Amino acid sequence: MLRTELVGLNSLEKAAELLKKGELVAFPTETVYGLGASIFNVVAIRKIFAAKKRPADNPLIAHIASLKDLEHIAVDIPDDFYRLAEVFFPGPLTVLLPKHSSVPIEASAGLSTIGVRMPAHNVARQLIALVGEPLVAPSANLSGKPSSTHHEHVFEDFEGKIAAVVEGGQCLIGLESTVISLQDPARPLILRPGEITPLQLQEILKKKVVISPLLQGFSSTASSPGMKYRHYAPKAPIKIFYSEKELLVYLKHTPLVNKILLVSEKQKANFSLWEPYILSNKNFYSILRLSDKKGYEEILVLCDQEDQQNAALMNRLSKAASLC
Ligand code: TXA
Ligand code: MG
Repeated sequence: MLRTELVGLNSLEKAAELLKKGELVAFPTETVYGLGASIFNVVAIRKIFAAKKRPADNPLIAHIASLKDLEHIAVDIPDDFYRLAEVFFPGPLTVLLPKHSSVPIEASAGLSTIGVRMPAHNVARQLIALVGEPLVAPSANLSGKPSSTHHEHVFEDFEGKIAAVVEGGQCLIGLESTVISLQDPARPLILRPGEITPLQLQEILKKKVVISPLLQGFSSTASSPGMKYRHYAPKAPIKIFYSEKELLVYLKHTPLVNKILLVSEKQKANFSLWEPYILSNKNFYSILRLSDKKGYEEILVLCDQEDQQNAALMNRLSKAASLC
């Protein structure tokens, strides 16, 4: 059993040293916390899969601090990548690129591509720069469980199992990055919706960008392997309502005992009697984790029109509710 250290923001050199020695260190990004390891260290990469209990066929994202870091991780980089990078790097976007042979096959889980992302969080980029090479980092949660949006969540899942956690407090965005594949140059495909929308990507690429239709199904042929597994799941079942009326009928017949209610900021006043929590990208995972801690029996979620347009939130919500 390791003693997991909480590393302050003024001691990033310490975290970098641990990473250089092949240890795992969780660090904040603007989306969610990442469980980092040096990208060229196969032993450290295997530790990530073991600590998370992550299926070996689920590839990792390479986190870079500058475009120079691409030299030893990607080849045949298309112009479209640079167009996207110019606008969205650093930021919550992961682009799949053909993998350089020096990246261990364990990192890409046998695939010929590697996801590349430059986090907007300064601490993440500083840490990568101090290590001197890209870091692979999946979300810092046990496989299948809600992602970590605070360093305390990382401790809940990994205390005694990893060397250190960087103390970055709350993540700004709260849902993972948008993942885009440029494999078919005529048809860029979103494999995971996130803060950066298809429309924003389309504007820069000047071609149609669609969300992969495979995301809707529980498919073993999903082009992003991670999407085929149960994900982000709290212990309690989630019940989703699409209108206030539907929810009010339910509440009238069912007492809100041992249940937790989530509604949008705008609807809060209409449900104040039930003391609801606010549904938002930023606090979604922390509320699922709160539910686990308190042992709630059911999570009730009201999605208004605006929520239903929010592809990233609806994707995580449907997965957490095991609807796809
Ligand atoms: O915001 C994020 O992206 C966070 C932070 C830490 O950067 N990271 C993250 O990593 O969410 P992870 O491993 O939890 O999710 C990566 C997703 C998975 O669904 C995986 O299957 C997909 O991206 N992915 C990664 N590399 C891929 C590849 N080469 N081809 C297809 N899908 C890939
Ligand atoms: Mg994840």
